Amino acid sequence: MASYDLLMFPGDGIGPEVMGEVKKVVTWLNKRNVATFNVEEELCGGASIDRHGVNITDAAVDKAQKADAIIFGSVGGPKWDSQPFENRPEGGLLRMRKELDLFANLRPAVCYPALADASSLKRELVEGLDIMILRELTGGTYFGEPKEIVTLENGQQRAVDTTVYTTSEIERIVRVGFELAKKRKGVLHSAEKRNVMKTGVLWNKVATRIHKEEYPTLKLEHILADACAMALVRHPKQFDVIVCDNLFGDMLSDEAAMLAGSLGMLPSASIGAKDKAGKAKALYEPCHGSAPDIAGKGIANPIATIASFGMSLRYSFDMPEAADIIDKAIAATLDAGIRTADIAAKGQASVGTAAMGDAIVKAMAKIAG
Ligand code: IPM
Ligand code: MG
Repeated sequence: MASYDLLMFPGDGIGPEVMGEVKKVVTWLNKRNVATFNVEEELCGGASIDRHGVNITDAAVDKAQKADAIIFGSVGGPKWDSQPFENRPEGGLLRMRKELDLFANLRPAVCYPALADASSLKRELVEGLDIMILRELTGGTYFGEPKEIVTLENGQQRAVDTTVYTTSEIERIVRVGFELAKKRKGVLHSAEKRNVMKTGVLWNKVATRIHKEEYPTLKLEHILADACAMALVRHPKQFDVIVCDNLFGDMLSDEAAMLAGSLGMLPSASIGAKDKAGKAKALYEPCHGSAPDIAGKGIANPIATIASFGMSLRYSFDMPEAADIIDKAIAATLDAGIRTADIAAKGQASVGTAAMGDAIVKAMAKIAG
């Protein structure tokens, strides 16, 4: 039987609570002999600052480099607001993304039928929604240099963030976009701001060329990123795959999460390039943050994190059947009316984090038979 090393970073805030539910899913798979997952835990973000003084240790990054997959909770919180910028909790996650070269961030926004009323949009707009936001994750405004605040002679301060993209960085993410679209509805929207940004001009040009040279049978639509944000709430089902840069992807994916009902529903996979053996490094994490306001209360929604682990079965371990069981179990649990507070309708009873995790594992057992 195949054996894999999972490295878990529960992180901060609700991270450890939602990760606890992933562990139940992993235990179930191990017991069923689907595969053997060896789980190890490491610290990132505020949790690492509290223990080691730094947002992530070199030893933890080293382990991440070697793991078969990384499952990540969330980082950050007001407790660490006074940390210098370089040692903010988020920096630990950003360092892993960069050093492991996890350039392709897949954020699927799926609106489960049972949740169509939980979205802030009308049911008919979101029911059956299934789109994929593909965010470039290791370039752009997040990592461009210079990135600084300098004091000028007149006493004013000047802050700079730099947005940088090279041809090959755009090529590789656009290719991932077309490969995803090929297995879906065959439509790729490329979102940028070519009307004001040079990176947008290059992005548009490279996407057009890759389409023409490598994927002429698929459909490529260019859309300005601001218009894309608008179209996502106006007529979201027109989209299949949307590819965009790091910063636009951060924003568009939060917006897409609300189409799916709650930020607590959106999983993600951050994947690197394949090595010679065909293996790619990968980190799986929910799109939501650490939600310090509800941390420790046992009421956080674990679905995005469980679904993120499900994505690892699909993209890292080639176990689509097991991934399907998780996705179907989530749908069945929602169909049964089981809701955490964030997705409960007005007046509808809600359950806590652990009860939601238990219900999903129970549904998995039923589906697997
Ligand atoms: C996300 C988060 C992160 C980001 C933070 C935690 C650094 O918002 O994954 O979307 O900005 O990329
Ligand atoms: Mg974000």
